[in-house]
Amino acid sequence: MELYIDTANLDEIKEAHDLGILDGVTTNPSLIAKEGIEYGKRLEEICGVVAGPVSAEVIATEYKAMLSEGKERAKIAPQIVVKLPTTVDGVKACKALSDEGIKTNMTLCFQAMQAMMVAKAGAFLVSPFIGRLDDISQDGTELISQIRTIYDNYGFETKILAASIRHPKHMLECAMIGADVATVPLKVIKQLMQHPLTDKGLEQFLADYQKAFG
Ligand code: E4P
Repeated sequence: MELYIDTANLDEIKEAHDLGILDGVTTNPSLIAKEGIEYGKRLEEICGVVAGPVSAEVIATEYKAMLSEGKERAKIAPQIVVKLPTTVDGVKACKALSDEGIKTNMTLCFQAMQAMMVAKAGAFLVSPFIGRLDDISQDGTELISQIRTIYDNYGFETKILAASIRHPKHMLECAMIGADVATVPLKVIKQLMQHPLTDKGLEQFLADYQKAFG
């Protein structure tokens, strides 16, 4: 399973990259707004750190404007993946960009049929937002499961990128279902490597050793 970090913060990206297990980065307009930096400049900086796919979301919502903004973003670096909202115009832009060899990440996916349509349009990634579905008492991981089945039924090659991940249990469920990628905040990436019994056990080992040998 590939692991992306979901942030536009350069320090967090560097910290995750230094762990040696980072495959890519996703950003969105809200994450960039938090950083208060021009989007294109930050994307250049991120691409200087991470060699894998870096998702860059368009601000435009109308087909032609999405196309030209997507093409501009794609010029920033070879690993840029143009992130488009899963709307009617977004799917149309996905098809046009994919036909030109530009990779796309179809974001804000909340139902399995959206995922089927973006796969038909040639999307490289689809981003089902599982945490936001859980927030409204729907089953986010069930959506991942439905998409996995549909993609396997028909041999769609679009990768399932589980997004809006809130905790390690989400990751576990996505990994069990067979999501191809997960994009995760740094805090949750760290939680994936921790357990209270690991800390307690280590403390005990060191205390025993200290007692015996000083
Ligand atoms: C994914 O690409 C999105 O940026 C992200 O996962 C959204 O997560 P949120 O629901 O925590 O904002």
